[in-house]
Amino acid sequence: MKIGVLKETRPNEKRVAVTPKIANDFQDKGFNILVEKDAGLASAFDNASYEKAGAKIVSKETIFKDADVVVKINPLDDDEIAQLQNGQVVISMVYHRLQPELVKKIAEKGVSLFSMDAIPRISRAQNMDVLSSQSNLAGYKAVILGADQMTKIFPLMMTAAGTITPAKVLIYGVGVAGLQAIATAKRLGAVVEATDVRPETKEQAESLGAKFISVENDNENVSEGGYAKEQTAEFLQKQKEAVNKSLFDADLVVTTALVQGAKAPVLIKEDQIKQMKRGAVIVDMAVEKGGNVELSEPDKTVEKYGVTIIGKTNLPSTLATNASELYAKNLYNFITFMADKDQFHYDMDEEITKNTLLAKGGKVLMQE
Ligand code: NAI
Repeated sequence: MKIGVLKETRPNEKRVAVTPKIANDFQDKGFNILVEKDAGLASAFDNASYEKAGAKIVSKETIFKDADVVVKINPLDDDEIAQLQNGQVVISMVYHRLQPELVKKIAEKGVSLFSMDAIPRISRAQNMDVLSSQSNLAGYKAVILGADQMTKIFPLMMTAAGTITPAKVLIYGVGVAGLQAIATAKRLGAVVEATDVRPETKEQAESLGAKFISVENDNENVSEGGYAKEQTAEFLQKQKEAVNKSLFDADLVVTTALVQGAKAPVLIKEDQIKQMKRGAVIVDMAVEKGGNVELSEPDKTVEKYGVTIIGKTNLPSTLATNASELYAKNLYNFITFMADKDQFHYDMDEEITKNTLLAKGGKVLMQE
């Protein structure tokens, strides 16, 4: 089969779905790789490096005409959907719960649509899990962005001119991004605290050297399938009370809290920001999903009440080389699990297939 790698069209997207190294690995398995011209440039992979790896550099039109499988990171745009051919396989992130209309539109083209962000969180699918591979990098970058806006350093520093005390960092949400944010802030020498609704995260945060702020939760349905559920207003109030002391004392706050299929919970409101230290920095990693911070704005850095609030979206794209390397490896593991060089298997009783195959033969097969 021929796999066609599209150039991303989302504004400011720097990643690419397949790197030269993975293009080479696919070819070793008997696939042919077509790459849209300049698809890898923004992540530092030039056309020559793909050609050296045995891939063919072609136009977008050629990909839609010749490829059996079309791959991308972000969902296909309207122009691309219009060019799809009946029977092609399309693989990208789709965010189908947020955009059911898009799935319908792609399904109508008679293609098989797989979504990389719908891979189930099970051990055998860990090496295909793009949400984890990308969130991990984003958690790192959030701390670096915060550090850049801070007027303080992270570590304890004893100098002839006096002793600098370590910065205090507070992380909301101890998932994949939150854990990497803790690890990064710790490595840089900060004193780190963290909080989450899922009690099992206490041990994980502590194992990285963070102090965990527990919030008593009477709600039995804290999480489902490893994901946090939406919390009651009562819980959020209790959380506020438990965490406020640390919030008002923090130099850097990173918020990562997400709830699957819902808007992100608002965890820091205006009245809390007013009570934070002048010069403190907040990085709202949930800004794209509505935001954990009341005053954050997508792709803006704003200053409110002396606090700098960073709302940068698509953090993985800012580390495009590494993010592409990991996405490409996830994609390679996914495709080589789902298909051999001649065909896809479509084993509908198998969990990864069931979760990720959103459309086939003109029909929408979406899982809730
Ligand atoms: P996520 O991105 O959906 O959410 C981030 C964090 O925010 C979560 O830890 C969540 O509990 C927390 N959160 C939600 N509401 C909150 C609130 N009101 N206050 C404070 N924190 C709140 O989570 P992510 O990183 O995608 O991880 C989800 C789960 O999947 C985790 O249990 C993780 O361990 C698991 N996982 C399993 C994998 C596997 O086995 N293949 C791979 C990756 C993750």
